[in-house]
Amino acid sequence: MSDRLAIHGGTPVRTAPFPALRKWDYEELREILDVFDTGITGRYGGRKVTAFETAFAQAYGVPHAVASTSGTAAIHVALGMLNPEPGSEIITAPITDLGTITPILFQQCLPVFADVDPTTFAVTPESVEAQITARTAAVILVHLFGTPCDTDGVMAVARQRGLTVIEDCSQCHWTRLRGRLSGTIGHIGVFSLQSSKHMTTGEGGMTITADPAFAERGAFFQDKGWARSGTGPRAYRFLAPNYRMPELSGAVGLAQLRKLPGVVQHRRALGERLTAALRGVDGILPQRLVEGAEHSYWKYGFTVTREAPWAPGAFAKALQAEGIPCGFGYIGKPIFECAESCWRRETLGTSGLPYTLPGVRDVRYDESTCPGARDLLSRLIYLDIHEAMAPRDIDDIASAIHKVATGLHAEA
Ligand SMILES: Cc1ncc(COP(=O)(O)O)c(C=O)c1O
Repeated sequence: MSDRLAIHGGTPVRTAPFPALRKWDYEELREILDVFDTGITGRYGGRKVTAFETAFAQAYGVPHAVASTSGTAAIHVALGMLNPEPGSEIITAPITDLGTITPILFQQCLPVFADVDPTTFAVTPESVEAQITARTAAVILVHLFGTPCDTDGVMAVARQRGLTVIEDCSQCHWTRLRGRLSGTIGHIGVFSLQSSKHMTTGEGGMTITADPAFAERGAFFQDKGWARSGTGPRAYRFLAPNYRMPELSGAVGLAQLRKLPGVVQHRRALGERLTAALRGVDGILPQRLVEGAEHSYWKYGFTVTREAPWAPGAFAKALQAEGIPCGFGYIGKPIFECAESCWRRETLGTSGLPYTLPGVRDVRYDESTCPGARDLLSRLIYLDIHEAMAPRDIDDIASAIHKVATGLHAEA
């Protein structure tokens, strides 16, 4: 390996492509064939979605799980369980997918953003507490990249203030905090089953809870509020969308759930190997884990330190040139700046709802909102590590990061 950086014409550390990730195999196909045998494709009348919900709840050790069509839908189901008053404030994280935010607005509630610690990438009990007002109804935590926030700390705050805590575990499947699985510590846990996630039904979502009243509302919410009672006049108990998961997805979910612990174990071993190999590299800092937290590495994230004598973007470019696919800045800006629905309040028609509801606070999202998140995004580099990779792939990534850090230091 030459010491000259590939970006300056040196030989890249890695020239072979990384192994492709293929999530489904004949185990999923066998479950799908069962659906073909029954001929029942919708969730009512079929058995797979119900079996998937039962298996998911059992695996997580909670009594209730509600399947749906996406992570966004699963968060909407969680809010449907809670049924907050329009105009309520929901505290959440500024670095997330828009799927965390859209359901808040659809329920006519206002997203309010707690800042993140740029070392853990997570909101803190203190940053959440600082955003609580008399109108706060709930907190949606986002366990970014695969490792949980201090959910226990947030729960302690939430208990004092009578708030519901929803854990958005879309990026954080099968990951424990102090021995408890993320998604089971808050009142409600939510999972995206979209294709990039630890387990996937292609698209899909799951909402779990130990609360029977939440579970009952959630089951209705994913089915238009329909109180199904066989024949006769229909009854719809409350306003709700159709997020019913199809049987084919439920079938795939059953097989994926069986693989989940192995997938996460493999990713964790690789992630820990990379972190160990990066110890002592000047100028970069891997995502710090909250005390007692595991990591399941949906993404491997690290920051370029403020002291590093190079621009974070230049580091990412140099790493890509070494044959290591990586991204810089993740969503680029805090999520409220990415979304016209927040930033310009372009929601339903020209109404500006829910921001124009009587009595709501003038929630502003401006340049001063969430400085920690802005700082993090300006220095954040992330890459994929996954279960099709082997330790030697990780060793190449580590070598490339070492090489780039050393090379850029020498140039500075
Ligand atoms: C943290 C987080 N929340 C919510 C979502 C929304 O999930 P979906 O894309 O399945 O609707 C995602 C998807 O990437 C996510 O990463």
